[in-house]
Amino acid sequence: MTQAIDQTTLLRPHAEQEYAEELQALDRQDDRPRPPSWKLSPWATVTYLLGGVLPGGTVISPKYVGPRRLIEVAVATLATDRALLLLGVPGTAKTWVSEHLSAAVSGSSTLLVQGTSGTAEESIRYGWNYARLLAEGPTAGALVPSPVMTAMQEGRIARVEELTRIPADVQDALITILSEKTLPIPELATEVQAAKGFNVIATANDRDRGVNDLSSALRRRFNTVVLPLPATEEEEIDIVTRRVEQLGASLELPPVPAAAEEIRRVVSVFRELRSGATADGRTKLKSPSGTLSTAEAISVITSGLALSAHFGDGVLRASDIAAGILGSVIKDPVADAVVWNEYLEAVVRERKDWADFYRACREAT
Ligand SMILES: Nc1ncnc2c1ncn2[C@@H]1O[C@H](COP(=O)(O)OP(=O)(O)O)[C@@H](O)[C@H]1O
Ligand SMILES: [Mg+2]
Repeated sequence: MTQAIDQTTLLRPHAEQEYAEELQALDRQDDRPRPPSWKLSPWATVTYLLGGVLPGGTVISPKYVGPRRLIEVAVATLATDRALLLLGVPGTAKTWVSEHLSAAVSGSSTLLVQGTSGTAEESIRYGWNYARLLAEGPTAGALVPSPVMTAMQEGRIARVEELTRIPADVQDALITILSEKTLPIPELATEVQAAKGFNVIATANDRDRGVNDLSSALRRRFNTVVLPLPATEEEEIDIVTRRVEQLGASLELPPVPAAAEEIRRVVSVFRELRSGATADGRTKLKSPSGTLSTAEAISVITSGLALSAHFGDGVLRASDIAAGILGSVIKDPVADAVVWNEYLEAVVRERKDWADFYRACREAT
């Protein structure tokens, strides 16, 4: 069914659609052992995530930029009977990594449960088509499988986003699934036993901890991999540049050259405010309440590009990013505004080559 869709019209293709060629190239060259049901070997999966050049010269683009070991641990975990929990502050690519891992391991990333405080047990176990349930009673045909149940039947990866936001009793539905690899269906006096290749990748936000802390029974079923914020400024600039290019291309924004300087500036503002000190370590700063993640830097630049392409002169200028930065920094209108003003006056104003940026931020405030 999906073959018929013209992918160039999709606003956001799935990882397995967007990177189909890379996945095929890896599949062709991959002669290492593959765990049961896996589309690629663990080695090829890691290469897909981190990028590389294949023997024939095919270039695999890096999806995740960060420590190799983390991705190796994540992939190795998926080949065991333990599930994978990606933990980190918002914007550290947890969702992104989970999507790409599923695409590489199972060939599709779409078996997804979005965790919220309203997530019900049916999203993890199964529900019913009520019209058929009334007409036929509980039959296999009236049962509506959850993404997790489908993953069990087909030996694929299921993704659970924001696991810790799901109410504790609903989370517990995962315990049997992960420990027994079985999903009982008492209404039909039967059960689904997971096929080899089934596993779960969950993501959870560091800052939500405590909301519905994982029960220890559930936590034991997971190996946790903590995704860090980018270690260095250069690494973060690299991530932002790459993603902005990809997003700009898929949104068909007119190409805007020379965005490098503003990318550097946004990243350094975010890093300084996040860490509570200027890059040279001389000035202490207060940190605003928001996370100022890499993901937010990406969206500040992308919005700036749209402004400059459609309403500016086609070059990304300080005035195109000022409003976006303000929006990211000032989440709390009172406390964060104070933090921002101090930064603007004590740091930005003093930087000779930042005069345009200072002016743009003043005007936007
Ligand atoms: N280390 C990284 N490597 C590659 N992309 C990153 C990295 N950190 C953040 N990103 C980008 O940030 C964006 C948001 O990430 P997301 O997965 O939604 O964050 P999270 O789920 O952790 O809140 C993605 O587009 C991703 O490409
Ligand atoms: Mg996420």
